[in-house]
Amino acid sequence: MRGIILAGGKATRLYPITKGVCKQMLPIYDKPLIYYPLSVLMLSGIKEILIISTPKDIPRFKDLLGDGQDLGVKFFYAVQDQPRGIAEAFIIAEDFIGQDPVCLILGDNIFYGHDLVKDLEEAASLKNGAIVFGYQVKDPQRYGVIQFDRNKQVLSIVEKPKKPKSNWAVTGIYFYDNKVIKIAKSIKPSKRGELEITDVNNKYLKQRSLQVKLLGRGHAWLDTGTYDSLIDASIFVKALQEREGLKIGSIEEAAFRMGYINKDGLLRLAGKINTDYGSYLVQITKEIG
Ligand code: TTP
Repeated sequence: MRGIILAGGKATRLYPITKGVCKQMLPIYDKPLIYYPLSVLMLSGIKEILIISTPKDIPRFKDLLGDGQDLGVKFFYAVQDQPRGIAEAFIIAEDFIGQDPVCLILGDNIFYGHDLVKDLEEAASLKNGAIVFGYQVKDPQRYGVIQFDRNKQVLSIVEKPKKPKSNWAVTGIYFYDNKVIKIAKSIKPSKRGELEITDVNNKYLKQRSLQVKLLGRGHAWLDTGTYDSLIDASIFVKALQEREGLKIGSIEEAAFRMGYINKDGLLRLAGKINTDYGSYLVQITKEIG
């Protein structure tokens, strides 16, 4: 399975912070935001990852992440020149995806939770159809909202409804078979001029090939698009890391735990980070090594 991180957009809700810096580069406590979704893809077993961003920001992502070799993975880069919607990612990534299934994750989404990696690994073995994850939120009108029938079967997904029929939002990680490229090409831009991922999901739903997995209590899904959610995410990460002594969203640790790099590889990366973050990586080699 191939992976895509969509890390473009305008991030207007974070102005003026994001007038000069892109959202996915902003710090969430001790690491750049993009590390969190990137580590999720790596922990799902995905090693070939395309980073899509704006023409201005792609060079910065290349500086930050390079070609992935030192993490035992491969990073590729592509430009989205205008934010024409999340589903445009599959059109931009057509050559990269080739004949494979694909997982898309939004570059500003943070996932954390018990058994999450197991769920994602399972999803990453998908061959046919699509899998999305639902999460209960207080403000569903900001998201694609899942409408259920009496038997908790999914009836439809509605993008940013004024009167949501449930509190279940579709999160920013999606798994699709190869048909997604054709489907993305077939949908029309919405009223706000975007190729909507919700339209892609509804196509799969109509063909009875959409699985919606609900993430229960004990999971956290944070998006970081506003001032408050940005700082809340930092506070959440700091609190959990201090309590457990384990980091959330470390791409170096993910590479080591997945066996993409060995102990020497991790020590080499740690040696370049002269902070507590580097010391933590050294500690990990002692515990697991
Ligand atoms: P959004 O939060 O919907 O958009 P945004 O980041 O531009 O923010 P704002 O609403 O404040 O202007 O996007 C979710 C994620 O998807 C985010 O990581 C940006 C990315 N994205 C793209 O890369 N291209 C796009 O065309 C869209 C719609 C989003």
